[in-house]
Amino acid sequence: MTFLSQTLARVKPSPTVAVTQLAAELKAQGRDVIGLGAGEPDFDTPAHIRAAGIAAIEAGKTRYTAPDGIAELKQAICAKFARENGLNYVPAQISVSTGGKQVLYNAFMATLNAGDEVIIPAPYWVSYPDMVKLGQGTPVIVEGKPELGYRITPEMLEAAITPRTKWFLFNSPSNPTGAGYSRAELKALTDVLMRHPHVWVMSDDMYEHLAYDGFEFCTPAQVEPGLYDRTLTCNGVSKAYAMTGWRIGYAGGPEPLIAAMRKIQSQSTTNPCSISQWAAVEALNGPQAFLAEWRAVFQRRRDLVVAALNAVPGLTCPVPEGAFYVYPSIAGLLGKTTPEGRRIDSDEEFATALLEEAGVAVVFGAAFGLSPNFRISYATSDTVLEEACGRIAAFCATLR
Ligand SMILES: Cc1ncc(COP(=O)(O)O)c(C=O)c1O
Repeated sequence: MTFLSQTLARVKPSPTVAVTQLAAELKAQGRDVIGLGAGEPDFDTPAHIRAAGIAAIEAGKTRYTAPDGIAELKQAICAKFARENGLNYVPAQISVSTGGKQVLYNAFMATLNAGDEVIIPAPYWVSYPDMVKLGQGTPVIVEGKPELGYRITPEMLEAAITPRTKWFLFNSPSNPTGAGYSRAELKALTDVLMRHPHVWVMSDDMYEHLAYDGFEFCTPAQVEPGLYDRTLTCNGVSKAYAMTGWRIGYAGGPEPLIAAMRKIQSQSTTNPCSISQWAAVEALNGPQAFLAEWRAVFQRRRDLVVAALNAVPGLTCPVPEGAFYVYPSIAGLLGKTTPEGRRIDSDEEFATALLEEAGVAVVFGAAFGLSPNFRISYATSDTVLEEACGRIAAFCATLR
């Protein structure tokens, strides 16, 4: 009998971490490698937010807190939901966790039983299916259409729903495609959900503030108030405020669900870091003007990368509405051979060859459940992006 649990056998390690590790190893060997794998802003946490963290330490706010968040942060989150999303929650409907990841994890742990199905559109953020499996649930993958920028249609959602469906997991703008659903596209999906009252909605709004060309972000409970009582609206400060290391995520939802999530959290991590919670209060209540400046920077980088990739014969890259990722297709390169003799039959082989022969680290599409593609994170400087796109173009031109 093996010592390790059967649950462990159901999950795989994060492929994005694996790519980052391989790139680091090559760098350590002295190779010239550009890493475009990391999913975090390259900006520093703004000074006023850092100062709030330091002030919390100096003021002795360094003890255990209420399990799912201090009152001040819950208030700030309620104000944020009302101000930005037109959603009215009271503090008892708010859960704060150690990153957006723990919010989703707690929600699955608190609700899934063996055999419960969770509908996940692909390509998806790498952790979704594995978190569902850790909770004994069954991921039901619905592949987005390339010609629709990898979105799913209402018909596809309808076809995936069964009596065992517990959650529909929605993520817009998306990691890894950056695709955002317009209000009308989202309404068409929520119309389907209104016909299936047993299905709950988990909306992962992590990239809300990273939307370009005036794209109007919206979230399911806002577009269809009829879903309010069965929607968990998840968000966090990691991506919007460049606070990935502080580990603060949050959600608003029905009180019994929030209480159930609190119970899970109280028996695992107890509470999110007290200092980070005070910094998050400042992030949500403090000045927001820098968000527009960051957005402009990201939009310029997106345009740079999309134009460069679409100029490469064999690559096709939709223009994403948000996040800081692009998800080009390599369909036009499959079956070709690299100068070092590698045959490219999959996106994993493409990413490996690109790293080893051209020194550019990207994440292969199979990791996100939809091939043949790769993901680039453009949360890095214009100079690095120009160099990386140049290398990708030169590498693709050598394929025969
Ligand atoms: C779509 C999505 N949701 C949630 C998260 C988790 O964010 P956090 O770092 O706050 O746990 C990420 C992080 O990459 C993400 O891409």
